[in-house]
Amino acid sequence: MSANKESWGSRLGLILAMAGSAVGLGNFLRFPVQAVQNGGGAFIIPYLVCFLVIGIPLLWIEWAMGRFGGKFGHHSTPFILDTMGKNRLWKYIGVFGIWTNIAIAAYYCYLESWTLSYMLHSLLGTFSGLDQEGVAAFFDSYVNLGTSTLGIPYEPIVFFVICLLLNTYFLSLGLAKGVERVAKVGMPLLILFGIFLAYKGLTVTAGENGAIHDSSVGLNYLWTPDYDELWSPTVWLAAAGQIFFTLAVGMGTIHCYAAYVSPKDDIALSAMSAGWMNEFVEVVLGSAILIPISIGYLGIDRVTELVKLGGLGLGFKTLPYLFFQWGDVLGALAGFMWFSLLFFAGITSSLSMGTPWIGFLQDEFNWKLRPAALSFGLIVLVLGMPTVLFFNYGVFDEYDYWAGTVSLVVFALFESILFAWVFGIDKGWREINAGADIRIPVFFKFIIKFVTPMLLLWVFVGSLFTPKDNDWSAAFNGNWQLDNNSIVRKLMNSGLKEQLANAVNPVEIERLQQTLFYVNASRVLLVLVFVGIALLVYMAYKKRVRVARLQEVA
Ligand code: ALA
Repeated sequence: MSANKESWGSRLGLILAMAGSAVGLGNFLRFPVQAVQNGGGAFIIPYLVCFLVIGIPLLWIEWAMGRFGGKFGHHSTPFILDTMGKNRLWKYIGVFGIWTNIAIAAYYCYLESWTLSYMLHSLLGTFSGLDQEGVAAFFDSYVNLGTSTLGIPYEPIVFFVICLLLNTYFLSLGLAKGVERVAKVGMPLLILFGIFLAYKGLTVTAGENGAIHDSSVGLNYLWTPDYDELWSPTVWLAAAGQIFFTLAVGMGTIHCYAAYVSPKDDIALSAMSAGWMNEFVEVVLGSAILIPISIGYLGIDRVTELVKLGGLGLGFKTLPYLFFQWGDVLGALAGFMWFSLLFFAGITSSLSMGTPWIGFLQDEFNWKLRPAALSFGLIVLVLGMPTVLFFNYGVFDEYDYWAGTVSLVVFALFESILFAWVFGIDKGWREINAGADIRIPVFFKFIIKFVTPMLLLWVFVGSLFTPKDNDWSAAFNGNWQLDNNSIVRKLMNSGLKEQLANAVNPVEIERLQQTLFYVNASRVLLVLVFVGIALLVYMAYKKRVRVARLQEVA
């Protein structure tokens, strides 16, 4: 039995912490770009369908699994899963629920540290005299570890360490005094800043402060549906991927937070409250800032180019410049609000990534909270350093791909099968409904049993074997060549190898060779971390067996 005596201070605190775990950088930087790239307004249809038939069921499944495991003193997925299924392998599947959090935290905290640094630079007016190229060049120099205008050598590393110290400190205060308090302060501030920036985004007017379009142009660009895209499985895969990332399902985080909920307390309504709060922030606030402001000032063609670089390109290379079109004072204030909002969104998510590892050490090896929190900070520092040092060699993206995308689907698939088919849907349904403050429509029982696992299987297989150029009709007609973005081809580095084969410039060839090296090295590192956690799970299991034997003898 665990000596872990952590608990939540209040129900509101729990819901805000859960919502904080979900609301993250993905809501503001990833969602609008995904929408633009996947059919504009038509994206919202698969997105909402995925929310209803994958997102909500997984929220209930994970809250129920967590609260169930908590009754037996388990606060991380290896032994939560072990309690639910007889097969010994379940606990090793549960390793995903610790590993994913650590691996995501490694690159996510680096991203979070940029927001800290940019908050300061916004206030100090670093971006005030720069044009858009100047702001973009600042970012490029920053990630190349060049000395920034603050004169701090290796500034990104300094801010990365500060960010990890903050995370470690709050984690070491525990759930009620640390995580919950940060969520109670961070979430309202985030929403307040978000509403202010959304208001500014929705009132951009052509001809004012250098704007070339009204905000309606940006909103039309984002929301005009392209129905041809609606039937593309690629769009559905993107929608499902966004749902996973934004709700933080398939990660193991929710299980951990829910394991501290008392067995008699509601989870059905709490899960919905946190989930819908995330959707409000994502769909309403997330779509009212980045795209309308960028289009208002830069126009559709330029933004279409920038969107290809992803949300980071717009969020860090463009917005700081655009804010200063509103004047020096408002520019500095808006920049500060934007990066504070991203920072609060980020830290409430990264704190949640620390808790499964800490809970595991406390439960299985009787670690005290502080050293456990410190160990999380150190592991993330070591694992995160390659993303800092070799950012331009694809290490950051590699972590994001395996830990932040593929692993979520794999774990979600396993846990939905475990919950509905091994543990059993009847028992599972009772778990979800125990103490519930709402009546869940009974058709969700059917969805959890059949639809969610089938869709997850489809998402996984579709991602594994994505056809060339996303041409699904050719694939279904028998010409199934794999795309370089399919998991199988990614694993073989086909895209990089093709680029290397076609490159003629020696500098480019050297860069690609180095990228190939760092990509492979980061995979080895991630696998080693996974194996390391699996070994700890094995040791914990052996320890449990020994203790049980001793108790029998006594
Ligand atoms: N759910 C977190 C985000 O959206 C990880 O950034």
